Amino acid sequence: MKTFGRSIVLLGLLAILLPCVTALAGESALLADLHKAKQIGCAECHGSAKKITVDDSEKGVNLSCIGCHGTLDTMSAKAKGHINPHKSHLGEINCTACHSGHNSSQAYCLKCHSYDMPIPGSVSGTVPTVVPLKAKKRDKKQVETADVVVIGAGAAGMTAAITAHDAGAKVILLEKQPITGGNSMLAAGGMNAAETTFQSAKGIKDSVELMYQDTMKGGKNMNDPALVRILAQNSAGSVAWLTSLGADISDVGRMAGASVYRTHRPTGGNAVGAHIVSVLRKNAADRKIDIRVNSAVVKIIEDNKGRVTGVEVNGIHRGLYTIKAKAVVLTAGGFSANPEKVAYYRPEFKGMTTSNQPGATGDGLDLGAKAGGELKDMKEIQIHPTVAAGSRILITEAVRGNGAILINHEGKRFVNELTTRDKASEAILNQTGKSAYMIFDEGIRKSLKQIDGYFHLDLVKEGATLKELAAALKVPVDTLEATIETYNKAVDAKDDAEFKRPDMPRALRTAKYYAIEVKPGVHYTMGGLRINTSSQVMAKDGKPIAGFFAAGEVTGGVHGANRLGGNSISETITFGRIAGSNAAQLVKPKAVK
Ligand code: FUM
Repeated sequence: MKTFGRSIVLLGLLAILLPCVTALAGESALLADLHKAKQIGCAECHGSAKKITVDDSEKGVNLSCIGCHGTLDTMSAKAKGHINPHKSHLGEINCTACHSGHNSSQAYCLKCHSYDMPIPGSVSGTVPTVVPLKAKKRDKKQVETADVVVIGAGAAGMTAAITAHDAGAKVILLEKQPITGGNSMLAAGGMNAAETTFQSAKGIKDSVELMYQDTMKGGKNMNDPALVRILAQNSAGSVAWLTSLGADISDVGRMAGASVYRTHRPTGGNAVGAHIVSVLRKNAADRKIDIRVNSAVVKIIEDNKGRVTGVEVNGIHRGLYTIKAKAVVLTAGGFSANPEKVAYYRPEFKGMTTSNQPGATGDGLDLGAKAGGELKDMKEIQIHPTVAAGSRILITEAVRGNGAILINHEGKRFVNELTTRDKASEAILNQTGKSAYMIFDEGIRKSLKQIDGYFHLDLVKEGATLKELAAALKVPVDTLEATIETYNKAVDAKDDAEFKRPDMPRALRTAKYYAIEVKPGVHYTMGGLRINTSSQVMAKDGKPIAGFFAAGEVTGGVHGANRLGGNSISETITFGRIAGSNAAQLVKPKAVK
């Protein structure tokens, strides 16, 4: 952890020094200079004439950008290249998430992707993967009050904020990153729920009990049974709640480890996360909830009885300030994007790629533990079997759910593709090159819209015939053809004698044929703060900490030793609602049923 802290400091110094060094070398092309060269003065962006103050969310400055250049939509309509940075899964984000006046600009996309994407105002040099907030001096006068403070603006945080707001609380939602959405924004496969109207409409027979059993089995019975019951019992209600906010999660697919089709996703099989996040963002904006990005919580404040009473925040411009609150909800996510922390708990995962957004560094866990919360299951780190080789791009389990198979470099199947993630990952790591090919055909491609994204990102190899595909992959053609023939016969017979795959919805017979090379990557951290069924954070003495709630990946216990695909979004919504509702009860006990 010390090394990590040191690299943050070094990166911070780099972020400060890089523009100066470049300016000295006569290369400066910071946006402020580019504007100046066009006779556009400081006041145009944030000057006194327009009365624009630079708050941490940089709202005024962003309105200035939009006033001159147009909205993201306008900008995206002008784009010419293959990749359009103004139209991405990140949705409606601030211009200043990428474009900076006084520091080197940097496309946010580059934190995960490796496109050749120079943008105006970017100073030559390396792209830091973590841009630390600048610490400012404390202003003691800066003390605010709120009823409920929520830390972390992924799906759990936005859900908690909306729920608490709707129960009558004044809410402030804080996010350390320059954009909201967290890891939820990247969630692909869907949201698990049992006994929903969407399942009934499709004639799917499921039950809360079966979802409970599947989740416990997937988690190797290390899960907290009471939390799993809450997850399963509330799942249909959470789908209905999201639908009432405007979400479309009416398509139902199947993910690994599930006995039935229960993974809800947008019509046609689009990714669930970007859609849900945009719905939650809109609902939060409609309610005028106070959301502050670039605002890192550095401390959870307690009174002398150990009751949580607020937070200390470091805003990128404002510096350190305090918010006093009746309740704090921690929804700051896990630590899959913190390689040092991952390696500390699981040395064997050192150097592995991750499917996570760069903010998933686990500082919320540290904050919660410092405030007295008990951490559990910290070694339970999930490796997702199918991250595109050489990238951080998750190839959703839904592709396998819709019929794709896995083959090794010798052209043979080697595992039940719908087994749990830990087993599938282990099987891939045992193959030549520690990687595998995910194979699908045109029928599967058409069945799931999000597959188009993998073509867009140039991740797919293809062949008009299996022979062509084998040549593209450099696998023995006879073996590949025999593998597919055996698999197709198993589909026809509804019996996978070789690997006991429980569901084979499609044979692979419709040209073209496609393959993506995949490798396991760090995907999810099951451990975290112990909570009870009311989403209260528990102290080591087994008692809840007054005024302190948590939901989502920052908590531990729901998933045990292994999370089932589709249970993460389900958890964030269900426990986000519980946390938000119970936090609001502390403010207006009579207003909440
Ligand atoms: O593969 C996936 O789509 C992952 C889903 C999840 O982690 O829940």
